[in-house]
Amino acid sequence: MCILLIFAVILLAGGASAGSDCPSASSLYPCTCSEGSTGAQITCDVSLLPGDGSQVFDIIARIPRPTTIYDFTIKNFGFEKIPGRAFAGLTIDSVYLMYGEKLTTIHADAFAGIGGLRSLYVEETALSAIPCQIFPTMPDLELLFIRYSSLEKLDDGCLIDASNLSQLVLDNNVIFYISPQALRGLKKLKLTDDELALLFREALLVTLSLDPGVTVLDLAMKARCFSRKRLDMSNNAIEYIAPGTFKDIDEIAAISLQSNHLYTVSAGTYAGLKEIGIIDLEYNRISSIAAGAFEGATAAFIINISNNNLVTIAADTFRGLSSVTEVWIDNNSLSFIEPGSFHGMPKIFNIDFRNNERLTSIDKDVFNLTELTSQFVMFNLEGKLQIGLSM
Ligand SMILES: *[C@@H]1O[C@H](CO)[C@@H](O)[C@H](O)[C@H]1NC(C)=O
Ligand SMILES: *[C@@H]1O[C@H](CO)[C@@H](O)[C@H](O)[C@H]1NC(C)=O
Ligand SMILES: *[C@@H]1O[C@H](CO)[C@@H](O)[C@H](O)[C@H]1NC(C)=O
Ligand SMILES: *[C@@H]1O[C@H](CO)[C@@H](O)[C@H](O)[C@H]1NC(C)=O
Repeated sequence: MCILLIFAVILLAGGASAGSDCPSASSLYPCTCSEGSTGAQITCDVSLLPGDGSQVFDIIARIPRPTTIYDFTIKNFGFEKIPGRAFAGLTIDSVYLMYGEKLTTIHADAFAGIGGLRSLYVEETALSAIPCQIFPTMPDLELLFIRYSSLEKLDDGCLIDASNLSQLVLDNNVIFYISPQALRGLKKLKLTDDELALLFREALLVTLSLDPGVTVLDLAMKARCFSRKRLDMSNNAIEYIAPGTFKDIDEIAAISLQSNHLYTVSAGTYAGLKEIGIIDLEYNRISSIAAGAFEGATAAFIINISNNNLVTIAADTFRGLSSVTEVWIDNNSLSFIEPGSFHGMPKIFNIDFRNNERLTSIDKDVFNLTELTSQFVMFNLEGKLQIGLSM
């Protein structure tokens, strides 16, 4: 769903002029070319070729230069390698490499010589590392997706030459380690006049009004999907994030970390992430959160720690989260919430505590009643859907 929306956004945002750029159909088989509203789109279903399908690169070599193509898709391939200068001389906005379960190698010059390449999407391959050497040849790259592959680590300095990236989406790999220096150089993963900024602002307004519960989820979903400046590392095997890892991307709007193996959140992990709207930590193994772990995420309006292993909430856990309206902490092992835990969170209106079997009561002192600005606070406790707290 998200991915379709992103495609739509890219199509809308692309705006390249349509022209008759398609090469003749007979020279392209089994690739096909169509004129979309943004320009020519070539799709090569390589399963129609014999063997591993690497002959597709001969077909690409025969496309007359210069030709301007908006999307170039190669799918269902059996080859292991993308060779050097495979597309050189063409002007292409986005390259898609989809469903190539044997692909392990991308030549350092694979994309060298392409004019205007802004997006690279790689999905369902056997890549075990980000091919760091390709970035110097793609100075305009803004979107990099490597999903459903076998990435294991994010190493130091890999992205230093990918400094124009505004979206890095690495979900559904097996990443277990992020070097604290891995995101160095990604300064552009920041929010500038972005529609996401509007979304977050809108969301904050909605949650401050009195009919919030429904719409905020919609907005959260939208924010995730449309976020143009984001780092998505969901569905990996990350165990630990060192404080400072995100310091170079401190204007990023969304970092997705759900469904990993995180066991703790250290103090300072979110330091400086002042544009983050959602703290996305559901489906990890978190059993402790350091005091001040989220400090600095001053714009966060949703904290999602649902489906983890938390036993207590200590008073300083949410320190500094003054914009939060919802806390999802259902499906943990909570037995105790320290008084003061939700102090300094004046906008809070909903905390989901369901499925914490040992949590049988919550002291009113967890809130500072005089600072609450919403009309009521709802708790969702197992069995009792809500305890109203009229102001
Ligand atoms: C980023 O993109 C801009 C505009 O396309 C370009 O001028 C600049 O050289 C790129 N930055 C890097 C580090 O390549
Ligand atoms: C929080 O995570 C849970 C579990 O994935 C999900 O059901 C819920 O919708 C999330 N809440 C928000 C506000 O994103
Ligand atoms: C919470 O856990 C229960 C019981 O294990 C499960 O049925 C439910 O789907 C979980 N809720 C979420 C939002 O994942
Ligand atoms: C509660 O909030 C009020 C209003 O912001 C503030 O003056 C007071 O110091 C707070 N009390 C505690 C115990 O934090």
